[in-house]
Amino acid sequence: MSLSLKICRFDPEVDREPYFQEFRVEIAGHQTVLDVLLEAWRQDPGLSFRRSCRSAICGSCAVTINGTPRLACQTLIREIAGNNGRITIQPLAYFRQLKDLVVDLEPLFDSLKAVVPWLITRWDHDGCMDPGVSRRMESLASCILCGVCDAAFYNPGGTKPAAFVKGLRLAQDPRDVLNAARLRLMQVPPEILKLFVKKMPKVCPKKVKIPEI
Ligand code: SF4
Ligand code: FES
Repeated sequence: MSLSLKICRFDPEVDREPYFQEFRVEIAGHQTVLDVLLEAWRQDPGLSFRRSCRSAICGSCAVTINGTPRLACQTLIREIAGNNGRITIQPLAYFRQLKDLVVDLEPLFDSLKAVVPWLITRWDHDGCMDPGVSRRMESLASCILCGVCDAAFYNPGGTKPAAFVKGLRLAQDPRDVLNAARLRLMQVPPEILKLFVKKMPKVCPKKVKIPEI
């Protein structure tokens, strides 16, 4: 199919403001938005975007597609092109645009560091994990830190959703010294927490579910 593509461009060295550039690409419905971006890049090698695994594992290709934050490598053309064959691609919202579709992810990593995102092993734990506990943490543990949720709902000044998922996963781990005390480390007002719980499975490309706490 023939696709009309609008990509948000911005080069801080030459542009005062972001603008849209149009591309025309030939693509099959079973291909992905990442394939489309690669085709646009062949037409203009100056186009910048991140990608690595092409398998929804590394989290680096997160962008805004037709107004919704998603992984480019996981989004099929036939799911989003509709009848008019148009796609608009922008950088993730709430992150500073560095160049074209590449954003500054420091706020995500700063929020992550604030929740102490590693296991602090208890000296008196034998390291064995109960299968039931392990299953309960499975969904939270499947987060790939793509930043899609941080771009979907914002917690100004507080723990961002991606960091919250990591902290919550560790808060449920019986091997961890901090364990439930981690919940106090994370600043998430109850109304924002409700939003995380309700909306996360819909926006998250890995379908992470936040349990009621
Ligand atoms: S919870 Fe989902 S959307 Fe958020 S960073 Fe992790 S994988 Fe991405
Ligand atoms: S390229 Fe790795 S998640 Fe899309």
